[in-house]
Amino acid sequence: MSLLTRRRLLRRAALSATAAGAARTGLAGATATATAASTVALGGCDSPPERATDPEQDRGLRFPDGFGWGAATSAYQIEGAAKEDGRGESVWDTFSHTPGRIRNGDTGDVAADHYHRYAQDLDLMRDLGLRSYRFSISWPRIQADGSGRPNQRGLDFYRRLVDGLHERDIAPMATLFHWDLPQALQDAGGWENRDTAERFAEYADAVFHALGDQVPVWLTVNEPKTVVQNGYIFGHHAPGFRDEDAAYLVAHHLQLAHGLAVRALRASGLTGRIGPALNLHPCYPADDSAEAAAATKLHDGYENRLYLDSIFKGAYPQDVLDDRGPDSRMVRGVRDGDLKIISSPVDLLAVQYYTPIYVTGDGSTVRKWPTSEAEWQQIYPEGMYDILTRVTRDYGRVPITITENGLPCPDVPGADGNVDDAGRVSFLRDHFAAAHRAIGDGVPLESYHVWSLLDNFEWAEGYEQRWGLVYVDYASQRRVLKRSAHWYRDVIRRNGL
Ligand code: FCB
Repeated sequence: MSLLTRRRLLRRAALSATAAGAARTGLAGATATATAASTVALGGCDSPPERATDPEQDRGLRFPDGFGWGAATSAYQIEGAAKEDGRGESVWDTFSHTPGRIRNGDTGDVAADHYHRYAQDLDLMRDLGLRSYRFSISWPRIQADGSGRPNQRGLDFYRRLVDGLHERDIAPMATLFHWDLPQALQDAGGWENRDTAERFAEYADAVFHALGDQVPVWLTVNEPKTVVQNGYIFGHHAPGFRDEDAAYLVAHHLQLAHGLAVRALRASGLTGRIGPALNLHPCYPADDSAEAAAATKLHDGYENRLYLDSIFKGAYPQDVLDDRGPDSRMVRGVRDGDLKIISSPVDLLAVQYYTPIYVTGDGSTVRKWPTSEAEWQQIYPEGMYDILTRVTRDYGRVPITITENGLPCPDVPGADGNVDDAGRVSFLRDHFAAAHRAIGDGVPLESYHVWSLLDNFEWAEGYEQRWGLVYVDYASQRRVLKRSAHWYRDVIRRNGL
């Protein structure tokens, strides 16, 4: 497929990611709300979504002993305290303070105020019975300008958090980069600048030395693909560019950053495990045509193999390289030895699953299933099974953790103060059942983190979409366990459905 065709494909994908899902842009507010309301009734939260599995049949499913039931968050989305204790600015501070970028003009300045309320949030996690908590470390809290001596007050916060987890018998899982690049590094070229990958490894090294004795699992870069697509192609995430050629150079440097961080952990002599956190999308042809099959294969290259092959096979997929072309910034930016660094052996793969993608013969994407309030998200639990079994089939039996899966619901406390998110319960039940089937078919899945522990700042959507098991009343910062949180506590207690 020519570069031109690919461009057309991306343009279409951009349209479906905006018009179809005004969702992530936050710019087409009115349309988004109207469409969202109608899709919610279709398959989101009010009425249970169409089921791929039978809840009766799932009852009694038990997960392997010691299965790591967990929940996930990220720093910018929950912490707030944007200017405290020496924290520098990140690209998301800049982006969210730029008028028109975020729905309702929201920012992460206060978010769920977790920086001040972490002790209460730790108690919530304990009450839920969580066995694992996946959070991210804010790079600008550790290095305000992205380089140099680490800021002790920033490290101390994460030390308190990690100690608090251990006190409650919850295993910490720390992501090093969940999109909040120090603005100073962006000013020096951001991820287009190869040096940013080197800076990342230095930052990672500082964090390993400060916290490595207490953190058993590290994740390097959260969803590099989202930075590439949303940050550099569609422009509705920070840094807000629309430059496809730059985007794939960014992809390479993010992969390089991942590999360098893996090497830094090994060099530190620490025993922690480390791996990438990839959002994988099972891609299916929208029809039976040969054209749809070919377009789906290339789409899969861009969505999945670009990241998986480079890490697990030490090579970028040839179809994607051909499609980019020899003169592209990405292809010109790959130096001898880079893929050896990128494919440094990892201990586990973190998979984030939200939606399948259906591709037509002309490379555009269509919807087959009801969507959630996030219109880019089609609800299809079987996709979880497909992507997990495919990864194990194609890349070997690397241990897998699911680090994100969930959906947004228009949650509102009722007259009794309770939040009845029945749709989230059936969504999670169906996805847990699909994961359970994958385990039965040989996938070495060891843990599952629901996105998210708390309602939070959902990037371009601001605070409008609520993804949490726990409701956050932003005015008072009061937390309320939703029905799904109570249900999840029982799942964890039973170790199954
Ligand atoms: C993922 C992000 C996470 C959250 C969920 C809904 O792409 O990693 O921060 O926004 O989507």
